[in-house]
Amino acid sequence: MTMNRTLVLLKPDAVARGLVGEILGRFERRQITPVALELRTLDRATAELHYAEHVGKSFYEPTIAFMTGGPLVAAVLEGPDGTWEIVRAMMGATNSAAAAPGTIRGDFATLMNRNLIHGSDSAESAAREIAVFFPSLV
Ligand code: TYD
Ligand code: MG
Repeated sequence: MTMNRTLVLLKPDAVARGLVGEILGRFERRQITPVALELRTLDRATAELHYAEHVGKSFYEPTIAFMTGGPLVAAVLEGPDGTWEIVRAMMGATNSAAAAPGTIRGDFATLMNRNLIHGSDSAESAAREIAVFFPSLV
């Protein structure tokens, strides 16, 4: 059911910098469109569930603090099969300093820990993360 859907978070830096429209517009222009969209401030429990794979890593606590520190935009985007992979390609490398020009991170960011956007990294992650953020869609 969720194979052609993926979870995207426009992180607090994207909201604070006024880049929500720019980033969503890139997906819309490529016909990858929102089926759920919400501005919300994450509580710690939700952020921990979302980043469970990173527990114990050096960047875990700063990342949780950043993700809960202000409003973000959570969205489920829908497109063709494998949409998660198209979205990841459009995001660019995790470390924005290395992200290719033309990608979201490569055009608007320079730092690893202020990289504007999250996108699910597999079909399985997409299903899991959509259930975390939008259980009514599952
Ligand atoms: P990760 O899931 O590896 O990257 P991606 O967002 O591209 O899927 O890491 C999650 C977030 O944690 C990443 O977007 C930013 C932060 N992070 C750091 O701050 N330092 C790091 O060394 C890594 C790997 C991630
Ligand atoms: Mg990831």
